[in-house]
Amino acid sequence: MYHSKITGIGHYVPENVITNADLEKLMDTSDAWITERTGIKERRFFNPDKDTVASMSAHASRMAIERAGLEVKDIEFIVLATITPDYFFPGSGVLLQRELGLEGIGALDLRNACSGFIYGLSVADQFIKTGMYKNVLVVGAEIQSSLMEMNNRGRNVSVIFGDGAGAAVLQASNDKGKGILSTHLHADGRFAEELYVKDPGSSRHPEERVSPQLMESPSIRAHMNGNMVFKHAVVRFQEVIQEALDANGFQKQDIDLLVPHQANLRISNYLQEQLGLADQKVYNNIMRYGNTTAASIPIALSEAWAEGLLKEDQLICLAAFGSGFTWASALIRF
Ligand code: UT7
Repeated sequence: MYHSKITGIGHYVPENVITNADLEKLMDTSDAWITERTGIKERRFFNPDKDTVASMSAHASRMAIERAGLEVKDIEFIVLATITPDYFFPGSGVLLQRELGLEGIGALDLRNACSGFIYGLSVADQFIKTGMYKNVLVVGAEIQSSLMEMNNRGRNVSVIFGDGAGAAVLQASNDKGKGILSTHLHADGRFAEELYVKDPGSSRHPEERVSPQLMESPSIRAHMNGNMVFKHAVVRFQEVIQEALDANGFQKQDIDLLVPHQANLRISNYLQEQLGLADQKVYNNIMRYGNTTAASIPIALSEAWAEGLLKEDQLICLAAFGSGFTWASALIRF
């Protein structure tokens, strides 16, 4: 049976840097509050004249493919995770496929929010293990700034989220004990409305689905019960990391680098403390990009790659929690 190895990782973030001071001009917030509660100093917002989920994904993908030493034409299948697709339908997977000039290959869209990239890795891993594909592109990309309410009512959500894209190339390998060792996927739909954008949904009556009233309603913006999400996140993150370690017979101390979904620096710091990991064993870049949902793990991995932190034989743990609720982990031997 084949194993899946991550052979290249890339990312793209829009040029437009939004600092906490910029947000202070739009709503009643402060750099001190945002820094203390989330660790975020700045994030990127897309340029509507230039950036789409598909175009950002294509930039990240090209970097990942180049770092893998492959050519774009070598990619056989695309998995794109996003909760902010360019169109209501079709999904942005086909748009990314078009941007890359890969007409004909399959393109799968995932909507598992912050866990989307790990869900994508898991799907790609299964395809590779069964021998169906040898080179799969897994992408997480989001444009969330256009969903935010940039005012006092939306401030508990809008200061957190940012835009960006990250991509990984998974390749089939015969190297035993290397690559993706296991993935663990979970969901609990009872909490779907604790972090969601309600409208425009398909289950509304046609006449009110995109009415003028709806355009003024907060229901078309992101809503989050921050306290509840936080409380579930810290529990589920720990559980799913432990599940990955147990499945492979490892201990917490065996982790060389934990790359958690960048939800909130307080969550990462709490996990680090619970796991007893040294500072250099937990990767954080939320300070610079905010929470980029499905893009956060691949952006972090891409930066860790560039910094030389993903070395041969290292044990890397990925973990995520978010809307759905969904949560997931992956253990990877590089
Ligand atoms: O990626 C998916 C998963 N997402 C997460 O894991 C996010 C989880 N949640 C969080 O990170 C935190 O709940 C937040 C950062 C969103 C909020 O932090 P918090 O410590 O839970 O704050 P809070 O919602 O309990 O609000 C505390 C106070 C409130 O004022 P009062 O009622 O104490 O007077 C809020 O109105 O802070 C106020 N507040 C703000 N103040 C300044 C809420 N948002 C802001 C803001 N600036 N942006």
